[in-house]
Amino acid sequence: MEAILADFERLIVPASTQWNHPGFLAYFANSGTPESILGELLAAALNGNGMVWKTSPAVTELEQVTLRWLREWSGLPAEWFGLIYDTASTSSMHAIAAAREAADPQSRTHGTSRGLVVYTSEQSHSSIEKGAIAVGIGKDHVRQVPVDAEFRMRPDALQALIEADLAAGLRPCMVAATVGTTSTTSVDPVPAIADICARYGVWLHVDAAYAGSAALAPEFRWAFAGCDRADSMVMNPHKWLQVTMDCSVFYTSRPEVLRRAFSLSREYLETAGDPRAVNLMDYGVPLGRRFRALKLWFVMRSYGHEGLAAMVREHVRLARWFAGEVEADARFEVAAPVHFSVVNFRFKGSDEENRRILDRVNAAGEVFLSSTVLNGKYTLHLAVGNYQTSERHVARAWALVKGAVDG
Ligand SMILES: Cc1ncc(COP(=O)(O)O)c(C=O)c1O
Repeated sequence: MEAILADFERLIVPASTQWNHPGFLAYFANSGTPESILGELLAAALNGNGMVWKTSPAVTELEQVTLRWLREWSGLPAEWFGLIYDTASTSSMHAIAAAREAADPQSRTHGTSRGLVVYTSEQSHSSIEKGAIAVGIGKDHVRQVPVDAEFRMRPDALQALIEADLAAGLRPCMVAATVGTTSTTSVDPVPAIADICARYGVWLHVDAAYAGSAALAPEFRWAFAGCDRADSMVMNPHKWLQVTMDCSVFYTSRPEVLRRAFSLSREYLETAGDPRAVNLMDYGVPLGRRFRALKLWFVMRSYGHEGLAAMVREHVRLARWFAGEVEADARFEVAAPVHFSVVNFRFKGSDEENRRILDRVNAAGEVFLSSTVLNGKYTLHLAVGNYQTSERHVARAWALVKGAVDG
């Protein structure tokens, strides 16, 4: 063990990007708090597998308990059913499978999607397209709806695409709206999108993988207007809720459709049916199920609702502080509205200059930023999400960025 641990320090740690470091300010920064790490360790020690209720009742029941709390703390509808998958990509794939089931119950049997179409904005995460590929709807039947100047899906463009597809004999099946897009954290107009979904009888999925955590603080609830009308929604505690990889929460108001899409019975998995017992294997592809709810439970109990809301608030404050510094420097510009804890910004120069700035900042090894492309321009991306990140780290990032201009 001594030799293994020495090799861990020598070989593994230096080759690891330190996501748990407070200077990690890239992508959607997050952290695994000590409480979450302890929950993860204890889950490994129990090694429970929640295939069905009786194979580890705690795995199934704690999942229901924690997701009920999360629903209550986030102001989401009380009747929603929730379960935990590994990632938002998996959650959204299951949403698409359920939408397919709702639109075409025969598809489960014959295996093709027969002209079903999924709509999502051109700023949405690639997982929607991937999910459509996995479920057999296919890339060609995913429409990238244009966005407005603030990177939000345009409802008028959505409606026009749906009409065009109907005229061509295709069948609109799902709209995947995003609350907190990957590049800019833009918020799609969910109320208007929900109206369109209702008009055409189309499944509404909300991808709030990152921003879902912000619903814990009432001042950010504006971003979730209309989400109560969604058929499904995903948010990732492993993105902004201080839970270690992996933990993605999937809610649906129509669990019976998801269940219909996936439940098959086998003699070797038969359970003496207590009708109150939920068998989570009936709601998706995986049979085996890790005890992910344990780490979520540790985090929710140790921070409490107020503690988590305070953390979200502080991260947003730090992002706004950074954006203020950028705006005050005439050489730079903020490239998208700062709704949550992410700032997109650029040096008012060429893509090449911005690329060089990012390389210099990251090469120093103190902080780590990432990049995206907005309106065709290379843009720097700073995200606050680690529980140990303080003004000191964000100020240091800004000093390094300014220093990198002068080179
Ligand atoms: C909006 C959004 N949805 C989905 C995902 C995919 O998340 P996961 O890695 O959990 O599949 C991301 C990843 O950053 C994201 O930003």
